[in-house]
Amino acid sequence: MTPVPAAKGAARLLIAPGFTPDPDYFAGGAFAFMGKRGSGKSYLGRVLAEELWRTKVKFAVLDPMGVMWGLRSGADGGPGGLPVPVFGGDHGDVPIDRGSGAALAGLIIDEDLSMIIDMKRLGSRAAEREFACDFLDHLYRHNSDLVHVLLEEADLFCPQKPSPGDAPLLGVTENIVRRGRNNGVGITLSTQRPAVLNKDVMSQVEGLGIMRLIGYQDREAIDDWVRGHADPEAARAVKASLAGLATGECWWWVPELDVLERTQIRRARTFDSSPTRRRADRAAEPRSMADVDLGSITARMTAAIERAKADDPRELKRRVKALEAQLAAAPAPDPVMVPVLTGEAQEALRLAAGTIDQAQSQMIDAIASAGCWRPSPACTRCR
Ligand SMILES: Nc1ncnc2c1ncn2[C@@H]1O[C@H](COP(=O)(O)OP(=O)(O)OP(=O)(O)O)[C@@H](O)[C@H]1O
Ligand SMILES: [Mg+2]
Repeated sequence: MTPVPAAKGAARLLIAPGFTPDPDYFAGGAFAFMGKRGSGKSYLGRVLAEELWRTKVKFAVLDPMGVMWGLRSGADGGPGGLPVPVFGGDHGDVPIDRGSGAALAGLIIDEDLSMIIDMKRLGSRAAEREFACDFLDHLYRHNSDLVHVLLEEADLFCPQKPSPGDAPLLGVTENIVRRGRNNGVGITLSTQRPAVLNKDVMSQVEGLGIMRLIGYQDREAIDDWVRGHADPEAARAVKASLAGLATGECWWWVPELDVLERTQIRRARTFDSSPTRRRADRAAEPRSMADVDLGSITARMTAAIERAKADDPRELKRRVKALEAQLAAAPAPDPVMVPVLTGEAQEALRLAAGTIDQAQSQMIDAIASAGCWRPSPACTRCR
């Protein structure tokens, strides 16, 4: 196997002692991180993003669970986070909706931005699929500079058993894994369950980061990849150790680099926004988040932002509160006087009507008994 050469003294991605790949090689490639829940995949994703940032490689994190925003703060919740915008979710600088995918990919390409995309509040599986499909497709078709995309929970993007609505997103993810290198788009697929990640897609990644895996099927799923890439004898030894790996421990297997290394991922320098909670824990919030210049972003995203605001429950709550406050502060309206007939007036009217009736009858009788005032031969009463 031929190790990929790196320029002497060039910056390396310091992910773990024993795994420090060349940034260009890693960023343009396709990799899979796998490990059971809590084994350290999202933490590893943050360390990778920190290293890409340090070595000046653009990146985008697609985060369906809303656990990657901690990249914006230092490890202790203070300064030291990466000044990259967070789109969507509970900590977003700018809201997103299902139709914002292509616009965000455009920002990466034209504005040279890295970003964290928090998909947690998109509202439905269909909305997540539409957003991710537009984003990845636009990036794949229009990108030319190097950019690395990290897909958290990658089995949602490319499942082994796709439902009818999954096909477009699966197709575009596979495109990037197979052909993205030509357009400068590299990708990492991070999953708890290698057994439910699409086998065709997984067979095409060039390297694995394997963390603690307990399930038999998930450990066996690695064999499909090994058959096409690596030595089955080595696979037996790796698989035998997987259930006993500590949190943050990771086997790196990149045959092209001649790397098969058991490592401990280094400590992250950014805020741990995916901690394993215990009963007494409250969700920790950092004290500060790195400043980001949102000027050009908001200018380009106005339409998408307005649409997202119209659907954003936080925005709607804010609006309801503002309207309630307006209502409370408004002066009470002048009373409208509606004239009403009292009982007494009604009785007087009734008496008056009776009197008029009576007078009318008396007049009719008087006219009938009186003679004609101008007798005439034609008058039937005078004859
Ligand atoms: N390399 C590490 N060094 C120190 N602590 C770590 C490391 N990796 C993980 N941890 C701890 O374990 C917790 C869980 O890790 P993480 O959220 O990355 O797991 P995960 O594999 O992404 O789980 P899930 O599949 O449920 O999303 C982290 O919040 C952190 O506290
Ligand atoms: Mg995770």
